[in-house]
Amino acid sequence: MSNNNIQIFDTTLRDGEQVPGCKLNTEQKIVIAEQLDALGVDVIEAGFPVSSPGDFKSVEAISKTIKNATVCGLTRSVQNDIKVAAEALKYAVKPRIHTGIGTSNSHIIHKFKTSREDILERAYAAVKYAKSFVEDVEFYAEDAGRTDNEYLARVCEMAIKAGATVLNIPDTTGYCLPSEYGAKIKYLKENVKGIEKAILSCHCHNDLGLATANSIEGVINGARQIECTINGIGERAGNTALEEVVMVLKQHPYLNLNTNINTSMLYGMSQLVSDSMGIYTQPNKAIVGANAFAHSSGIHQDGVIKNRETYEIIDPKDVGVTESAIVLTARSGRAALAYRAKNVGYELTKLQLDDVYANFLSFADRKKEINDNDIHQIIETSKVYQEILSA
Ligand code: KIV
Ligand code: ZN
Repeated sequence: MSNNNIQIFDTTLRDGEQVPGCKLNTEQKIVIAEQLDALGVDVIEAGFPVSSPGDFKSVEAISKTIKNATVCGLTRSVQNDIKVAAEALKYAVKPRIHTGIGTSNSHIIHKFKTSREDILERAYAAVKYAKSFVEDVEFYAEDAGRTDNEYLARVCEMAIKAGATVLNIPDTTGYCLPSEYGAKIKYLKENVKGIEKAILSCHCHNDLGLATANSIEGVINGARQIECTINGIGERAGNTALEEVVMVLKQHPYLNLNTNINTSMLYGMSQLVSDSMGIYTQPNKAIVGANAFAHSSGIHQDGVIKNRETYEIIDPKDVGVTESAIVLTARSGRAALAYRAKNVGYELTKLQLDDVYANFLSFADRKKEINDNDIHQIIETSKVYQEILSA
């Protein structure tokens, strides 16, 4: 693996599936896991095996099916969780146990009612125990975003000492600013003894809408894995959206950070997850929303028709969207109307277009969006229709 390769760890089936009302059955999870594998993700977090017999069954089934990606199961720092996860992962070609514990004062005092020293010991013991089953052990410091950096560095050192291969630094509550999260990763890179034995991973939540920005700052500052979900689904406001971080890195090649993702599958992947989970994707969602490549104002449409790059920074085909959409509304201009009319078979002269456009505006004022059938009707009811027909 090159040092500039960013591992994509997909947690759609674990953190993503924590969305209320979004339970998937094992068959649906297998279909999604197979597509994630084809998409090129490096790690699939398949579930939390001890949480229910259904989750155990899904992680086991995915372990048997997936041939390329690492298959990962989540645990708490509890021996039985780890044993059960190891059992569920035993058929995986590349198994990983993801274990960890809360490290912020809030977690230590209120959740565990214990001391910082005890958390260090529990972290060490959990990783050590997980190592007795698998080589690849990822450790998460839950609420690392609100954990002071010095203590966090000590926790990371303990996990590395016990054999952790990946250190996950979750901004569990989505609180950090990008500069703060980036500085945290930099601090750990520079201050954790033995850090060269493990990679740092970004796991950012979107409570303030900063998950993508924080993950990008994380990798700019030395992290080499991003944990994310398709469409950014997940607890509360969700997780980092896979399609967003992958496209940020692709569209900014000077960062020299690459992923193994086949981006032309992103739109299809988004549709699959949205349909399987019954979660509608907001139309203005970056990369995969219905309006991500749709242009509706006259000024923008004119620009895009002349040269797509005037108002688009991504070629829609790069993410599996067939083409940019020129949406006809009352705010559209003549260029957009001529373009759409041509697509349905009418080549209009400038004078014909003036007449058809007047008719179009009165239609568009009555109807929100003009479709191809409407265009036929608009042209057929224009004064110049006979002239257009005989051309
Ligand atoms: O957000 C979080 O802290 C998590 C951990 C369990 C990895 O999802
Ligand atoms: Zn999370």
